[in-house]
This record gives sequence, C-alpha cells and structure tokens, in this order.
Amino acid sequence: MKLWAGRFSKEVDAGVNDFNSSISFDQRMVRQDILGSMAHAAMLGSTGIIEKAEADKICDGLQKLLEDIGSGKLAIDGTAEDIHTFIEAELTKLIGDAGKRLHTARSRNDQVALDVRMYLKDEITEITALVEKLIKALLAQAIQHTETVMCGYTHLQRAQPITFAHHLMAYVQMLLRDLTRLQNAYKSTNVLPLGSGALAGTTYPLNRALVAERLGFDDISHNSLDGVSDRDFVVELASAISIIMMHLSRFSEEIILWCSWEFKYIELDDAFATGSSIMPQKKNPDIAELVRGKTGRVYGDLMTLLAMMKSLPLAYNKDMQEDKEAIFDACDTVKLCLKTFTPMIETMTVLKENMRAAAAKGFINATDCADYLTKKGMPFRDAYKAVGSLVAYCIQSGKTLETLTLEEYKAISGTFEADVYEAVSLETCVKGRAVPGGPAPEQVKAEIERAKEILKQF
Ligand code: ARG
Repeated sequence: MKLWAGRFSKEVDAGVNDFNSSISFDQRMVRQDILGSMAHAAMLGSTGIIEKAEADKICDGLQKLLEDIGSGKLAIDGTAEDIHTFIEAELTKLIGDAGKRLHTARSRNDQVALDVRMYLKDEITEITALVEKLIKALLAQAIQHTETVMCGYTHLQRAQPITFAHHLMAYVQMLLRDLTRLQNAYKSTNVLPLGSGALAGTTYPLNRALVAERLGFDDISHNSLDGVSDRDFVVELASAISIIMMHLSRFSEEIILWCSWEFKYIELDDAFATGSSIMPQKKNPDIAELVRGKTGRVYGDLMTLLAMMKSLPLAYNKDMQEDKEAIFDACDTVKLCLKTFTPMIETMTVLKENMRAAAAKGFINATDCADYLTKKGMPFRDAYKAVGSLVAYCIQSGKTLETLTLEEYKAISGTFEADVYEAVSLETCVKGRAVPGGPAPEQVKAEIERAKEILKQF
C-alpha cells in the first residue's frame, strides 16, 4: 500500500515501482533517518504539536527499530520505496496509530535532505581522519630524507637538485589544502533543512533551533525552497574528493614511474605489490595504478552531480534522488584508496643510492654552475652561455661538471677557479637553495614542523 494510495485508483506498475525505488542505496542512511525522526518527534512533543506521551512512544519505537536493525533482527525490505517509507511503516506496525503522527509537519523532501546531510557529515569526518593519516605517513618518510639528494623534474626531464623529503612535502601541501576544502564542505553541510516541509514550510509552530541543536547542526536553512532543493553541499564534497583523488593520482603516477627499472627510486613492500600470472619476474604497482584509475570514476561522480542539478527548477525534483549513488561512490572510493595508499607509503623502501646516481647524470647542477660565474661578476646571460658550452663539451667527452679538470673549465672561461667543484657539488646546490619553501634541509625541516602545527587545527 503506497503512502499516496488515497489519490490513486490503481496500483503502481511493478516496473515503475522498481524504477522509482531508492531503498537499494538509501538504506545506508537508516541510522540517520531514525535519529532525525527521533529529534523531530521529540520536538513535536515538546512544542505540544502532538501529545508528549505519543512523542515518547514514537521515540521508544524508533529506538527499538534502531536496535533491531543493528542486531539483524529486522531486515530492511528491499521492495519498500525508500528508507523513509520503510521506517515509518515499521514504526506503525510496532506501536500502532502513534506511528502515523511522526510525519506531522514534515515531508520526505526535507527528511531526505536531512538524512543526506547527517550521513555526509560523518563521511567528511572519516575522510578527514584518513587524509591526516596520509599526511603523517608522509611527514614520517620526509624526516628520514631531508638530505637524500634527488633530481627535481620539469617536463619529466632532469632539472635541478632537490631532496626526496622536499618532493614528499609538496604532496603534504596539497593534502593540507584538501583538509581545508573538507572543512569548508563540512560547514556547508552542517545546516538543518528540516522545517522546510515539502517546499513551503509548515503551519505548525515548529522549534527548528531545538532540532538543530539536538542533531548537532550549526544553523538552520533560511529559505524553505532552498532547504529542500539545495545540493550544493553534495557537489562541494564531490569536488573536494575529486581534488584529493587528483593529488593521489599524480602521486600514484610517480610511484609507478619510481618502481620501474628505468628509475628504481623506490621499492614497494611485497605486501603492497602484485605479481604476474605469466611473467615470474614481475612486481607490479597495482595499488597505485588502481588509485590512478579510480580517480576517473570519482570525477565521473562529480560530473553526474553537476549535470543532474543543472537547470532543475525549484524546488525538489525526483532527479535529485540520483545524488546519493554518486556521492556515496565518491566517498567509498576515496576512503578505499586512502586506506590502501597510506600503508603503501609507510612501507616503501627508498633507494637513496639510485636517486643519487640518477641526480649525478643529467647536469642538474648547470644552473648552479652559471650562478657561480654570476656571483663572480659575470652577467647571467653570458654565464648561461658559457655553461651551455661546458655541457655540450661534457656530452661530447663523456664527462660531467664534477669530473671536468680545471683546465677544461678554464678553456671555456677564465673566471672558473678551483672552488667551482664545491659550487657544483649536488649537496652544496641543495643546501644553497635555502629560500623559504626551498629544498635546503633546514627549510624542509621547518616545513615539516609547520605541517605538524597545522594538523593540530583539524
Ligand atoms: N527517495 C527520495 C529521494 O531520495 C526521497 C524524497 C522523495 N520525495 C518525493 N516527493 N518523492 O530524493
């Protein structure tokens, strides 16, 4: 029997029933639905909109349903239209007529908006904790590698010397911004829509502030049309999650490269890599590849939400039922990725010697060599040209800036002295880049401390 049976003379077509139903995916909000209803019923009782005794009966009944669903005693009926309908029907079965008073001054439109907000607040808290864990894992790796020289790249070409810690700390910066984005999404979500009714509020003297306080909302929605039709908070969260995935996918791409024989900068723990069914020698970075792949899926969720909301007239439209599968998938996916990615980072072995050996090839100290001449008075453009000739000579003769003789240096410019060797040593080059935010070990150590401080705010 449908909620709206009075108006209709026929039962709904079976196919339409399945098509319309959302219980297969909105049942995961069962706890939120029940807790929201308890707060609503208690307020109806305390304001005298329904009898206090009936409100108590409703709350006790809802508590019992919560326990029975939790213990598995009560199974969710997959043929119900949605979780809201199911709970109301079960409540009425359990406590009789009082159950029919629960929906006074409420619509499923403000109810579903409430449930989604409550559900997503918990999700944001969980995702935030997982991002924090990853940041901590990166800080723990970074502190070990503030002196581990590595090439920095542009265009994936060896460019200038940095350290492995400096590289990892770039991801820490991204993830710290992600925490702020999650915090902002939380603020947008933390608004109580209940009281908006179907679209035009209600004639009952509700105490919305009381419900907001009981459910831990900072504010109430301030326009009933917007209250039921706002899904900005869902899009904002999907966007914040997409950006987290973007960061994880960039990192994954680097992990994949670093694991290759061409780089061999890191080795993943055996527990976080996989083999091949045919090639006995293989050790594959499947986790990083899957994270990279799942990023596309999460972007798809964001696009689903944006496209679903586009051009919707006010206020509630059934299109909006489609928000849940997309945002649930985005939340599930980012959590799954973070839970696997973090221990992969914690357990990876850094092959310092290989990083150092790669840094020695590729003339990544050429800028420092030109700076050496500039600091001795030569205009930078002339210095750049002189070092360009030196590099060309090195390539031709199979040498590096470290292995040229002083005579060879002097043949290009008389400004070179014996102290050039100290100037082009990669360790000197890294230490010299001591500008705030630069790769010099003391700067990176300061950034590690700063990141720890920022983490305390979340
Ligand atoms: N299952 C619906 C949803 O997820 C609940 C709201 C239904 N409201 C309505 N008027 N049909 O959006």
